Amino acid sequence: MSGQATDHVAALDALEVEAERAIGSARGRELLSGLRTEYLGRKAGRLTSILKALAGLGPDERRVVGARANALKTRLDELFDAAEARLEPESAAAGADLTMPSRRAWRGAKHPMTLAVERINGIFQELGFTRYVGPEAETEWHNFLALNFPPEHPAMDMHDTLYLGDGVLLRTHTSPLQIRSMLEHKPPIRILCGGMCYRKDPFDASHAPAFWQIEGLAVDEGITFVDLKATLTVYARRMFTPTTKVRFRPSFFPFTEPSGEMDVGCQICGGAGCATCKHTGWVELLGCGMVHPRVLENCGIDSERYTGWAFGMGPGRTAQQLYGINNIRLQYESDMRLSDQFVDAE
Ligand code: DAH
Repeated sequence: MSGQATDHVAALDALEVEAERAIGSARGRELLSGLRTEYLGRKAGRLTSILKALAGLGPDERRVVGARANALKTRLDELFDAAEARLEPESAAAGADLTMPSRRAWRGAKHPMTLAVERINGIFQELGFTRYVGPEAETEWHNFLALNFPPEHPAMDMHDTLYLGDGVLLRTHTSPLQIRSMLEHKPPIRILCGGMCYRKDPFDASHAPAFWQIEGLAVDEGITFVDLKATLTVYARRMFTPTTKVRFRPSFFPFTEPSGEMDVGCQICGGAGCATCKHTGWVELLGCGMVHPRVLENCGIDSERYTGWAFGMGPGRTAQQLYGINNIRLQYESDMRLSDQFVDAE
């Protein structure tokens, strides 16, 4: 073979080594098709340029070098095809099952606590209660003293208050809204107040340092404990079921006399006893009582003429009974896996 022919074969060998390496390391379809044009392009491909130069060879040499060039073309075509097949799954359409139903569009959902609060609001609205709101930063007077907590009363320690200074604190319950509403409005009063409250509690399965409460207050002439029991019983049966069992136990709060706590039959076990109701069949839903005459007087309401009843509850207990969410932490963290389960709840 002439020196020219040997040069061509050497060029083809070098091209093969180089192309193999380039194809092997090409990532992505675009790179690969660019390489194919670079090496095998019909007009300006590198293999084509070598083939064009064969014109200057004698017929025998042309046949030998030509056969080598054709073999290289076939080999490179195969390498490109194989490399493309390897990249195939990258393509959106290839390999996809086009008969699969489309993915459901993500829909936001109300948090179970919001659902519970909305139901509570709705029921009391039907019963003639109006919504009332007030500040989360309260004075010590509204939060404790006007509610008949004596300055040194242990109940004040019980609340483990977050003080902001200058007689101002983060409200530890929604009861100061009783005071605000009575100072603002003359009886008859029927209000429902909801909002965040704060206590220096550790954040665990049954406590949260910031938590929601709902407070109710009714003040009028001739209101008795019967109104309290009847209204709260109707409330519980509308919230849960018409046959839900209700019981009242005596309790103590400085701002009510007498004071009580209302339990409902556990909705989770139907009263048979389970972990949620600590095997008693009952869960405590709220604190309540007849407004203490001193509280009425502190708000300028004549306690000889008017009486009232009040209640306070953590709606988390209701959400727990409605939806079986035992862990208070879950109710106050924003884990969307929880609310996602309530997409169709209303
Ligand atoms: N404020 C009380 C608490 O946080 C709950 C409460 C009990 C509110 C009795 C009331 C009531 O209005 O009458 O523990």
